[in-house]
Amino acid sequence: MLRSDERTILSRIHELLPEELAIYRRLDPERLPKHVAIIMDGNGRWAGRRSLKRFLGHQQGAEAVQYVVETASRIDLPWLTLYAFSLENNLRRPKTEVNFLMRLLSTYLNNNVKRMNDNNVRIQYIGRIHELPAEVQERMQWAAEATQQNTGTVLTLALNYGARSELLDAFKGLYQEIAQRHIGIEDLTEQDIQRHLYTAHMPDPDLLIRTSGEMRISNYLLWQIAYTEIFVTARLWPDFRGVHMLEAIEDYQRRERRYGGLGDGSESDDVASLPANQLVNR
Ligand code: FPP
Repeated sequence: MLRSDERTILSRIHELLPEELAIYRRLDPERLPKHVAIIMDGNGRWAGRRSLKRFLGHQQGAEAVQYVVETASRIDLPWLTLYAFSLENNLRRPKTEVNFLMRLLSTYLNNNVKRMNDNNVRIQYIGRIHELPAEVQERMQWAAEATQQNTGTVLTLALNYGARSELLDAFKGLYQEIAQRHIGIEDLTEQDIQRHLYTAHMPDPDLLIRTSGEMRISNYLLWQIAYTEIFVTARLWPDFRGVHMLEAIEDYQRRERRYGGLGDGSESDDVASLPANQLVNR
């Protein structure tokens, strides 16, 4: 029998909000996703609908990040990966908005590292981080070091990230390895590419959530989401909370993941015994 303080260390489910707990209790604990990735979209529309400046939408979006991270940590989700700033955002948005997002990131880290530690969350990053402003990189490094001992949810922020550039970087790394180790081209495997991705040490996402209703992948984790279940909600990111992530997980648990095979309980037809002309022309 566990003492109650030992149970507290093992589970933080009791910290969920009542509406979160109601959904969590309907979930199958054996089939919780290990990795949830989110495309956080709709900050601008959230602000526009309130006749506010776009930057206020981003500010509310940063608040939403912390709520969702804390719910993730309470259900002991091992990996949460958020698309916070794409390479295309960096290249195509007005400089003022890019600068604001950079300042917002630094502020977010300054204000939330303590809460990450309280929640046993470790932060890390994927993307072309070296192209971000030096002072932002310094804050990022500080936050990563300040949380590196934590053993709960790994929060990965995709920053200055694009999946095609990730693949390009992976192919460059693999090319160097091939040259150094004289690997034969015919010996290459999918794992060789996977080992050179920014996410080499992470499992592929089980569930990808996109807010604000757009049916797009937007150059996010293209390699990694080959068999990921996708959940799109019309809700705009600043209105997204832990309870909505749990709703997405509940929907995910109703799906049957096949990975290109047959579903549970389906039997293969005995097509081998049919004459070929009965397979077509019916
Ligand atoms: C999309 O909204 C969101 C972004 C471009 C960036 C996401 C940033 C945040 C959630 C806030 C900062 C995050 C951290 C981690 C501090 P959009 O501007 O494209 O919205 P729209 O499509 O409605 O215009």
